[in-house]
Amino acid sequence: MDQKRILLIVGGGIAAYKALELTRLLRKAGVGVRPILTAAGAHFVTPLSLSALAEDKVYSELFSLTDEAEMGHIELSRSADLVVVAPATADLMAKAAHGLANDLSSTTLLATDKPVLMAPAMNVRMWLHAATQRNLAVLRADGVSFVGPDEGAMACGEFGPGRMAEPPVIFEAIMAALGPGGRPLAGRRAIVTAGPTIEAIDPVRMLTNRSSGKQGYAIAGALAALGAEVTLVSGPTALAAPIGVKRVDVESARDMLAACEAALPADVAVCVAAVADWRPAEAGGQKLKKDGGAPAPLALVENPDILAALSKGDRRPKLVVGFAAETNDVEAHAKAKLGKKRCDWIVANDVSVAGTMGGDDNAVALVTTGGIERWDRMAKGAVARKLADRIAQEFQ
Ligand code: C5P
Repeated sequence: MDQKRILLIVGGGIAAYKALELTRLLRKAGVGVRPILTAAGAHFVTPLSLSALAEDKVYSELFSLTDEAEMGHIELSRSADLVVVAPATADLMAKAAHGLANDLSSTTLLATDKPVLMAPAMNVRMWLHAATQRNLAVLRADGVSFVGPDEGAMACGEFGPGRMAEPPVIFEAIMAALGPGGRPLAGRRAIVTAGPTIEAIDPVRMLTNRSSGKQGYAIAGALAALGAEVTLVSGPTALAAPIGVKRVDVESARDMLAACEAALPADVAVCVAAVADWRPAEAGGQKLKKDGGAPAPLALVENPDILAALSKGDRRPKLVVGFAAETNDVEAHAKAKLGKKRCDWIVANDVSVAGTMGGDDNAVALVTTGGIERWDRMAKGAVARKLADRIAQEFQ
């Protein structure tokens, strides 16, 4: 990865502080970062912090004699493999959508012939405004990729979509866009399940769980980065599909199984979804009413096991990988699961560790019939890349 470089445009928004962490992650992975800081961005982070973390000069002026003498803005726009805008403010998106070029960042975006990835960040009303949504559609049609925004509490006190994606997630999208040196999984097909399922109790109520989908999405992205043709069968999440991944949205376990079967044949299946083990025996067509008496017990029936179903049958992928989220005796349970579900590998993680479920880090052990490998705690994106590399080895 040492030779890969990105041009990072940091716009003016409170999320600009996350661009520092993103820069740190990229440098740690050996990616070169050349920063452009907009005038508005400089109100939120200092050129000194950005420059120190990027280990490069920060560019900010279009009409700077020194900057132009060192590297003209046209050359700057083409000096990297990928242009990343994080945070991509409403203003930067609008300028890029309309081809305005009145400062260094907008001129660079207009002059570049490299792929562009934007991580939008703005107030929820600004994001949902028809003008921003129009600009988003124009930029997408122009070939710009997006990561986020996430939904959540915002610095302005409001709640909704508009939060910039977290640095590890943007990092993952960048790594996927940059691609590896080679594409060892080119020509291979992969199915990844991710996120929670939801099982209807009646038209308004449901059974679900706290899975964020982050680990599964990262794995789908990492496999795509190695050249695999990936179908991501996803329960409801707040995440954007990784670059190059085909996403199929489902709700219930039965829909997830049907979507996986429709995606066969595949060379590899990785089941990361937190599938509900049970569903209500009968999902009422009408909202259940309380009638003053004792509540009726909720009868449950077992859901199909997608991992086990994919592991048997004549269309079994060559490699089937399951996950085991446990709170105790993690490795013993994982080993038992390997036998019971007849998959090839189990990635076991201890979800009793605070911050694992829904968080950005994971500590896992890879359990195969050959033994157990314990991996250090690392970002979910790093777990995904390591697992994708291991999968690629199986197909060499
Ligand atoms: O049995 P348990 O739910 O702990 O197994 C976890 C593994 O099995 C995960 O890989 C999960 O995606 C998969 N699974 C499944 N279908 C189910 C239940 C679990 O694919 N109904």
